[in-house]
Amino acid sequence: MYKYIILLHILGATIWTGGHLILSILILPKALKNKSVEIIQNFEQPYEKIGIPALILQVLTGLYLAHNLLPDFSLWFSFIPGIPTFVGYKLILLLLTIIFAADARFRIIPRLNENNLSSLAWHIIPVTIISVLFVVAGVSFRTGGF
Ligand code: HEM
Repeated sequence: MYKYIILLHILGATIWTGGHLILSILILPKALKNKSVEIIQNFEQPYEKIGIPALILQVLTGLYLAHNLLPDFSLWFSFIPGIPTFVGYKLILLLLTIIFAADARFRIIPRLNENNLSSLAWHIIPVTIISVLFVVAGVSFRTGGF
C-alpha cells in the first residue's frame, strides 16, 4: 500500500511543481512582457483543473505518509531533528501555499488587469519556490536533508 501512496504523491508533485515551474519560467515572463492577463488565463484555466486536484492529492497522500512515519501527532510540530523536522517544514510550506493561493484567488485575481499583473507575479513566484521546497523537504526524508 505504502509504495502506491508514494507513487501517487510523486505523480502529484510532478504536476504541482512542474506546472508552477512552467508558469514561472515560460508563461509569466511572456505575460509581463506583453502586459497580457489573457496569456496567464489561457494557461491557468486548463491547468487549474489538474493542478488543484494534484494539490489535494498531495495533502491527502502527504498526511498519510507523515502519519505512517510519525504516528504520534504531538511530534508533528516538535522540530526534533530528522523526520519530525521535515514533517514540520512540509506543514509550514502547506500553510504558506494556502495563504498565497487564497490571497490570489479572492483579492488579486478578481481585480486583475494589465496594470497590476506584477501583483500576481508576486504570488506566482513565491508559490513556485515553495513548490520546489516541498520537493526538497520530501527528498530529505530519505536522504537526511541537504
Ligand atoms: C505540493 C506539495 C508537495 C510536494 C510537491 C511533495 C513532494 C514530495 C516528494 C518529491 C517526496 C519524495 C518521495 C520519495 O523520496 O520517495 C515527498 C515525500 C514525502 N512527503 Fe511530500 N510533497 C508535498 C506535500 C506534502 C504534504 C502536505 C505532506 C504532509 C505532511 C507531505 C509529506 C511527505 C512525507 C511524509 C514524505 C516521505 C515519504 C517517504 O519517504 O516514506 N508532503 N514529498
